Amino acid sequence: MAPQPEPDVCVPAMNRTNPPTPWNLAARAARMNPSVIREILKVTERPGIISFAGGLPSGKTFPVDAFAAACSKVLRDDPVAALQYAASEGYGPLRALVARHLRAQSAAAGQDWDIDPDQVLITTGSQQGLDLVAKVLIDSGSRVLVESPTYLGAVMAFTPMEPEVVSIGNDADGVSIADLRAQGQAGAAARFLYVLPNFQNPSGRTMTRTRRIELSDAAADIGVPLIEDNPYGDLWFDTPPPPPLTALRPNAGIYLGSFSKVLAPGLRMGFLVAPHAVYPKLLQAKQAADLHSPSFNQRLIYEVMQDGFLDRHVPSIRTLYKAQRDAMLQALANAFPHANTDPEHALTWNTPAGGMFLWARLPRGMDATQLLPHAVEQGVAYVPGAPFYAGQADQRTMRLSFVTPSIEEIQRGVAALAATIRQHQPR
Ligand SMILES: Cc1ncc(COP(=O)(O)O)c(C=O)c1O
Repeated sequence: MAPQPEPDVCVPAMNRTNPPTPWNLAARAARMNPSVIREILKVTERPGIISFAGGLPSGKTFPVDAFAAACSKVLRDDPVAALQYAASEGYGPLRALVARHLRAQSAAAGQDWDIDPDQVLITTGSQQGLDLVAKVLIDSGSRVLVESPTYLGAVMAFTPMEPEVVSIGNDADGVSIADLRAQGQAGAAARFLYVLPNFQNPSGRTMTRTRRIELSDAAADIGVPLIEDNPYGDLWFDTPPPPPLTALRPNAGIYLGSFSKVLAPGLRMGFLVAPHAVYPKLLQAKQAADLHSPSFNQRLIYEVMQDGFLDRHVPSIRTLYKAQRDAMLQALANAFPHANTDPEHALTWNTPAGGMFLWARLPRGMDATQLLPHAVEQGVAYVPGAPFYAGQADQRTMRLSFVTPSIEEIQRGVAALAATIRQHQPR
């Protein structure tokens, strides 16, 4: 008898991780898959493994005392409202505070941004903002432009709406304008370009001010709105990033922000800022999704933030993450002294100016996905870069998070990674 194929050989790659079901599922459900990263994390979370794979903020930065005080105050001052259903737009004082905060930040970066609090929608994490954007802007077959690489969670939010996801090339300064113009003119008009200008997840790259202006101009020329996702922008190390893209053309984009990286991700609190012309539709999608974000959590965030707490708290996160980044850079420089003179035969990496991630590239002939089990055997884990590409992946790339391991673990982990690479590097 001829050998039988493996049971899942005929299943399209997209469906590989979905178990068979007798249910008659919607076509879009077949496009939903467990996050590849979460699957990788399961393997890497074995005891004793030093993990550069996680994407979590450091728990050391969570302002527990400030939240404890805010909990008492909210329950004492306005318990019924805090525990009652509320408006879908979000808690008014928090919306006003977000608008003030963004206006001040943009002005400090040299760009006026006239935000009306009515344009702020409080979301259940910025991840929900991505989901609302997908529901309101994508039809089946719509073209959606993304960076290369890009945030996997955004692609997961867009995919059920059945778009054609098109990757736009990147260089160290940000999105390639030539590629954007070429893609913008090819095929049907794109619904939007999803872009992460600051300390990008996964690549750690920050878009320069010049590139932001060029990008805003090019997107306006070809009529493509920008969806700007900025959960890491406050986590700069030496100098604040240039102003948001949305501040350059407020009516041509939607801005997504998050409290996850500056306060705590478990509260699931984020926000979006949208032009008046599209806000009502996002609001209706939000109403259908969850009526509103938790009233209690919104008030907690407001109480914690209202006296300028972030101005005192966020610098301590920056200091911690910068020291962690420096430790990783130093460990990499020690382990790979020839990286800069011989980039094809040594690991190379960038120097993120903020955020949580560093982007590295293996020597020629190596593949980060294939190397991962060997690295785990040596006691260190990372996330291969390939899943972050919507188009052609660079198999040599990997994302290294520097924020959760201790400095001593960073040193041991990088040494283990270097040993793994040396063992498996083709001669
Ligand atoms: C680029 C990016 N956007 C959005 C999110 C979602 O963040 P939130 O916790 O606000 O939903 C993340 C989370 O890691 C992220 O990295």
